[in-house]
Amino acid sequence: MEDHRKVLAETFDIIQEYIDSLNNPAQKVNEFMLPEALKSRFDFELRANGTPYNALLDFIRQYLHLSVKTGSKQYLNQLFGGLNLPALLGEFITSLSNTSMYTYEVAPVATLMEMEIVRKMNSFTRFTHGDGTFLTGGSNTNLVAMITARNHLFPEGKEKGMAHLPTLTAFVSERSHFSFTKAANAIGLGTQNLKKVAVDNHGKICSRALTEAIEASLNRGEVPFFIGATCGTTEMGAFDNLAELVPVARRYNMWLHADGSWGGSAIMSPNWRHLFNGIEQCDSFSWNPHKLMNIPLICSVLLVKDASVLREALSSDDTSYIYHNDDSSQYDLGPKSLQCGKRVDSLKLWLAWKYFGDEGYVARINHLFALAQYATSVIEQHPRLELMCPTQTLNVNFRYVPASGDEADKFNHKIRQSLVESGKSMVNYCHLPNGLSIRLILLNPDLEKSDIDRFFRNYLTEAKMIEEKSVTKV
Ligand SMILES: Cc1ncc(COP(=O)(O)O)c(C=O)c1O
Repeated sequence: MEDHRKVLAETFDIIQEYIDSLNNPAQKVNEFMLPEALKSRFDFELRANGTPYNALLDFIRQYLHLSVKTGSKQYLNQLFGGLNLPALLGEFITSLSNTSMYTYEVAPVATLMEMEIVRKMNSFTRFTHGDGTFLTGGSNTNLVAMITARNHLFPEGKEKGMAHLPTLTAFVSERSHFSFTKAANAIGLGTQNLKKVAVDNHGKICSRALTEAIEASLNRGEVPFFIGATCGTTEMGAFDNLAELVPVARRYNMWLHADGSWGGSAIMSPNWRHLFNGIEQCDSFSWNPHKLMNIPLICSVLLVKDASVLREALSSDDTSYIYHNDDSSQYDLGPKSLQCGKRVDSLKLWLAWKYFGDEGYVARINHLFALAQYATSVIEQHPRLELMCPTQTLNVNFRYVPASGDEADKFNHKIRQSLVESGKSMVNYCHLPNGLSIRLILLNPDLEKSDIDRFFRNYLTEAKMIEEKSVTKV
């Protein structure tokens, strides 16, 4: 075997170069390539014969070169990104120490770290008798919230299944994340029994429409059991008014879940805590540090107000080969998880939180909110840019208004595509009631105003080029 020290040193050189390149303005965000071109560029085939380390290092270089640089300051595309060094170190060490979180015995330090993080997070939700568990993504936190709700309200559902329950219905806003639809499918609720409730023009669920939908469901003989509110919608960054939803959930004896997968981390900031008014009376809360806390994917937590519900809903009794009754077994996290093997996602978050402290994270989050306002002002002051909805949090939705009277949806789609292909900036789009909207996401705390300016310069340059091309064609 080749000297592992040499291999590691070379790998760390590659990593170092990659991290340096993220701050280089000439560095492209991506090397745009359609699948056929990429297949011919990269040797994907796995063969009978092996490959030495020096060739593997080349593959690593190529992989990094051809992958999207989500740590780049022009990556404004999705709800994750940025480079969080302490968390990255945690990610390396997690793989190095390679263990599973199910028992304290095989993951003693990581178990206590996970417990400390859950305690810390619950100091923000004010779930004073709460608990929580790490899960594999925001979608799965919503799924497990729904399972927990069902098994808590209808304990016979766990053993006997949905066939022994009345027709249950769940309620989310029409702007909620699609993971609720997947959850409705996965737990056997049926996607038709997930009711999508109208929102106001800020994208927040209308509590009156919710009450009407619940009443209509009751009139059909169904049993409404779950309300999924959103703290930070995927497209508009809207926060449902939890304080308004709490009395609705109580009146109908329903579980109230708040999906803070995207916006949840803002709960740490005293400036934005008001967005979460009522959270302490919700039954569960999704919080995804791999989004607004810039922890490398995956890092997601489901918090619950009542500490007993996770174990009650998720444990199984055929586990004696793994869970033994010994001195540390009350620390085993596996029984309150749906998984058997469970990756250590706590170390990277714990290291980052230890490094930045609450104060560091609050400053990062406040900075991003201020940048969202800055980006909004750039749009408002530009004669050819138009806001597509009011900026409420960290999603800035806008579009370019073409001079020629071209259809704005198609035109902005073209600009966005051409920008992505150029590798200069990466931004995504969504469909709002008033049309296709470019959704600028502010989540990389290393961003400065100059990066925002650069993004708009890039966007406007593409727009101009496309406009000029269409004039020449005519
Ligand atoms: C509001 C909301 N909930 C849930 C999710 C799903 O999170 P994940 O991608 O971690 O599964 C997202 C993802 O963007 C989201 O925006």
